[in-house]
Amino acid sequence: MMHFSQVVLVPGDPILGLMEAFRADPRPGKLDLGVGVYKDPQGITPVLASVKQAERRLLASETSKSYIGGHGDPLFAQRLTQLVLATDSPLIATQRAAATQTPGGTGALRLAADFIGHCLPGKGIWLSDPTWPIHQTLFAEAGLAVNHYPYVNADNCLDVEALLETLGRVPHGDVVLLHACCHNPSGFDLSQADWRRVLAVVQARELLPLIDFAYQGFGDGLEADAWAVRLFAETLPEVLITSSCSKNFGLYRERTGALIVCASSLERLSAVRSQLALIARNLWSTPPAHGAAVVAQILEDVELKNLWITEVDAMRQRIAALRLGLLEALAPHGLAERFAHLATQRGMFSYTGLSPAQVLRLREDSGVYLVGDGRANVAGLAEARLGDLARALAQVCN
Ligand code: LMR
Repeated sequence: MMHFSQVVLVPGDPILGLMEAFRADPRPGKLDLGVGVYKDPQGITPVLASVKQAERRLLASETSKSYIGGHGDPLFAQRLTQLVLATDSPLIATQRAAATQTPGGTGALRLAADFIGHCLPGKGIWLSDPTWPIHQTLFAEAGLAVNHYPYVNADNCLDVEALLETLGRVPHGDVVLLHACCHNPSGFDLSQADWRRVLAVVQARELLPLIDFAYQGFGDGLEADAWAVRLFAETLPEVLITSSCSKNFGLYRERTGALIVCASSLERLSAVRSQLALIARNLWSTPPAHGAAVVAQILEDVELKNLWITEVDAMRQRIAALRLGLLEALAPHGLAERFAHLATQRGMFSYTGLSPAQVLRLREDSGVYLVGDGRANVAGLAEARLGDLARALAQVCN
């Protein structure tokens, strides 16, 4: 008997699969704007200097490789919660918020999904259209009914009115996933006025917000990017937040993140956390230690933290400059207006508005790799390649 004969071949992951296709492409002028990783002008995804220093300290001071507990490293959890909710957050002061360490932001999302599925049965989840493709599959895998609210319209513009209109019809008590900043894939973020309107609908429909916070520091700054998260956490009795250290600490492969629970009382928080530990035990037992130890070292030490803040600021400012640089490079091709959204989008990604056929042509004719939905990772660009990219885009747009 051939046990595996019924197993069908499925297409590769829409984002990670691109990394393999790119590596296999022999063309020297190829350009990888697929997976969301920051690259320096030399095309390297660097280990941050603050991370290197923290690692050196850890190497000298670490005394054990024993398991860390089900909720992970307590110092990491405490410091990350402060980074997300603010050191003087009233939720922290009243013991209404705590983090469970997870393998990356994706692990936090999976933990949240299983928590909702196991402990809050009957709730559907509402995702933006478009959203990160793994949101769709991850929540479906966890058995949740997945629904969508509009976010970007056919003209490649943020459509707040359509978003609010749909949220206003969501069944009472459902879960709504919101991107805190640097919306993936579009790069379009809500204004503070928009966020207040979303909050009013969330309150009116008694929705449970699950806020995906994967890019803190990459939009307008570490504090500014947390504005909506803090507004929701301080206004509503219950909020779930998934936080990722992949991008802002450059710890992608170390799988470092957390699920932060905000509850109405310590008693409720403890009950939720007991469930999270149980679910996590069956998913990954205990989380990996290294990335969290690095983050804890950095956030604990004033000097290292300041160095890290400087590094995050530099990455954000460079990405913003790359956006404007690309817009400038597109102008001589008559495409400045067509790509004007580059200047208003935030974070690593830009939804280009290119069709799947144009994305395919870009790849085949010019070796430029974008995600199939037209998402470009601006943070993967090098200043020296802006002209090449503009020419390639002109070929498919004009
Ligand atoms: C992305 O969207 O490219 C990143 O979040 C990496 C990933 O895991 O897909």
